[in-house]
Amino acid sequence: MKNITVIGSGTMGNGIAHTFAQYGFTVSLVDVNEAALSKGLQTIANNLDRQVKKGSITEQVKADTLANITTYTDLTAGAQNADLVVEAATENPDIKLNLFKQLSDICGEDTILASNTSSISITRIASVTKKPGNVIGMHFMNPVPVMKLVEVIRGYSTTNEVTSTIMALSRHLGKDPVEVNDYPGFVANRILMPMINEAIYTLYEGVAGVHEIDTVMKLGMAHPMGPLQLADFIGLDVCLAILNVLHSGFGNPKYAPCPLLVNMVTAGSTGVKSGNGFYKYTPGSKELVVADKFNGES
Ligand SMILES: NC(=O)c1ccc[n+]([C@@H]2O[C@H](COP(=O)([O-])OP(=O)(O)OC[C@H]3O[C@@H](n4cnc5c(N)ncnc54)[C@H](O)[C@@H]3O)[C@@H](O)[C@H]2O)c1
Repeated sequence: MKNITVIGSGTMGNGIAHTFAQYGFTVSLVDVNEAALSKGLQTIANNLDRQVKKGSITEQVKADTLANITTYTDLTAGAQNADLVVEAATENPDIKLNLFKQLSDICGEDTILASNTSSISITRIASVTKKPGNVIGMHFMNPVPVMKLVEVIRGYSTTNEVTSTIMALSRHLGKDPVEVNDYPGFVANRILMPMINEAIYTLYEGVAGVHEIDTVMKLGMAHPMGPLQLADFIGLDVCLAILNVLHSGFGNPKYAPCPLLVNMVTAGSTGVKSGNGFYKYTPGSKELVVADKFNGES
């Protein structure tokens, strides 16, 4: 396996491209948006600089990594020679189904088609391709170059051979892959999202404030960050979308998103990316300040 195509140059796509390129793969990074490609390359360069400063890589590795990445806005040009495609485009079923349908025509019949989706069924994505056995979930965590886990998701038809190849490849990238089956939320989000939702309910019902809830979970459970801060980092819109997948996929009311979460997303308070969530975020400031809404100030 030599040629890797990464689709989507956002938060996850640039991290995935960075990781494969650093390990010597030839990476084609594809995005519909030219600006996203430039921003993705800039982010990769900045993150490589940080690695050089920390002494974890040399200047030469940085230069080689950047030289291994070519960008494309045209899907055919970017994917036609791929041995593996890792799709990390926007979390929207229509976008992903459309991409996989096209990839199935563009790529060779041995190409493995992987998705980094957080919640969309791999079995459903595979169903629009000609070779569903070659479709698999490769769920990297954010930030990709740093986080060790890859949740490898076997769709209903994914073959043993494809699964073994992706497990071995993940280990080759210095990751610790874990194999799971394709049911709503897989493992990571099926367990994480109900915890985040419960933390939001705890706030909504007035049991405790933002700071108090996060402090209990940090100091009491040794979590590196509280669930409300984590939700802000993931994006409250993303959390809501995943809870909706769990709720509709299992038909169980225990996954129903908290009305406060729904309200916040509707109002545009989506967490770090919007500057406001359970906390407020000022560019350049590392101080954790509870949002006015939850501070009795609005
Ligand atoms: N952000 C996270 O913490 C995280 C963690 C794990 C998995 N994921 C999953 O990774 C995927 C990407 O998430 P993200 O946070 O990087 O999103 P993002 O919004 O940062 O980036 C998505 C990129 O996809 C591009 N795109 C949209 N449609 C496209 C198309 N048809 N062809 C090519 N590019 C297209 C957009 O222009 C954008 O640059 C999603 O499936 C998400 O669920 C995200």
